[in-house]
Amino acid sequence: MTEPLAAPSGAPAASTSPAWFPPRLAVIVPSYNERDNVAVLYERVSAALSGTPFEFIVVDDNSPDGTAEVVREMARRHPNVRCIHRIGRRGLSSACIEGISATSAPFFAVIDADLQHDETILPAMLAKAEAGDDVVVGTRYAGAGSVGAGFSASREAGSRLATKLSGLLTGRALSDPMSGFFLMRREVFEEVAPGLSRDGFKILLDIIVSATRFRKRADRVLRIGEVPYTFRPRHAGESKMSPLIAIQFLGLVLSKLSGGLLPTSFLLFGMVGGSGVFVHLAVLWTTHELMGFNFTNAQLTATIVAMTTNFVLNNELTYADKKLRGNRFWIGLLTFYAVCSIGALANVSVATWIYEASPDLFLAGIAGAVMSVVFNYSVTRVFTWR
Ligand code: GDD
Ligand code: MN
Repeated sequence: MTEPLAAPSGAPAASTSPAWFPPRLAVIVPSYNERDNVAVLYERVSAALSGTPFEFIVVDDNSPDGTAEVVREMARRHPNVRCIHRIGRRGLSSACIEGISATSAPFFAVIDADLQHDETILPAMLAKAEAGDDVVVGTRYAGAGSVGAGFSASREAGSRLATKLSGLLTGRALSDPMSGFFLMRREVFEEVAPGLSRDGFKILLDIIVSATRFRKRADRVLRIGEVPYTFRPRHAGESKMSPLIAIQFLGLVLSKLSGGLLPTSFLLFGMVGGSGVFVHLAVLWTTHELMGFNFTNAQLTATIVAMTTNFVLNNELTYADKKLRGNRFWIGLLTFYAVCSIGALANVSVATWIYEASPDLFLAGIAGAVMSVVFNYSVTRVFTWR
């Protein structure tokens, strides 16, 4: 016979929490250093969703400001709050994916922790999804929506440019594909979850591109709805957007344009390689022309400097999610030098071989370069960024 469970002392009076089981909607909140925002957001979301059973899942990447502890404290008082505390990992998209995967609710919404997204449109978004839309996007760029005071002029220009770029990808008239605020049916997400990129900020764009493609194969269309809202300034704390994340976005766009054939990390690795060519030439010129190094020494210096900047950039950008630090940084750098040296040999032999077969300087040069990028990328994935 099972004993009835006694209510633990200090448990909330049942009347303070709405009936939340089973949840109809999961509100997924990625957070990094949002200690002073999460509780306010919870209160506002609860007010907006009164009457709808929902759960509030915060996915926190071990924020130094102690956000996770604040959320756990909230969870002790509200049974529909949960904290997914990830240690040793960073990233908005991957945080969202983990939060979504943790719910059994038929619908989920993703909303920023900093109160920039207007939670009062959640019921309208849910109603659209319940009426059959597969994805409902909170949009700042249609109808009554706007970025209000939420963005600086330069950030707004960047956002609009990114919106145009992503229109190329989705091939759909979507007003705000860069939105971090959306709601959808979990089943639709599950169709495409395995192929989603874990890097960067643009999970919605990735979901829409993948789901449109998936549906097309089954001769169905992805139904997308939009609900306008006004973007608000951040409540407390700072934005985590950075040039790095903008470049990761470019990598994602190119990867999707290749039909997913080229992984984002490969494209980023290639872009970093391209930047290395400039570094190489700049150092070669400086050391040879300005500092009087003989050609061999200048070339040697340029090679080492370019390999080093390539390593650092790849560590920060391409492999931001498995960034090497401390001792592992130095070991990684040594393996990177070793791999690139062999890559250079591969480059020269392929280029020579092609040049001998048909003496086209550019074709041979490019083939050699591609060879070394492919080689360095594959081998450093095994030895450097495991
Ligand atoms: N778990 C986790 N890990 N959460 C993160 C991380 C991370 O590495 N980086 C950012 N977040 C959380 C933040 O705590 C916040 O709740 C949300 O993701 C958005 O981050 P912000 O730093 O506030 O980004 P933003 O306001 O500059 O960017 C917003 O606008 C973009 C559109 O222009 C976001 O809504 C983006 O999603 C959106 O694409
Ligand atoms: Mn924000």
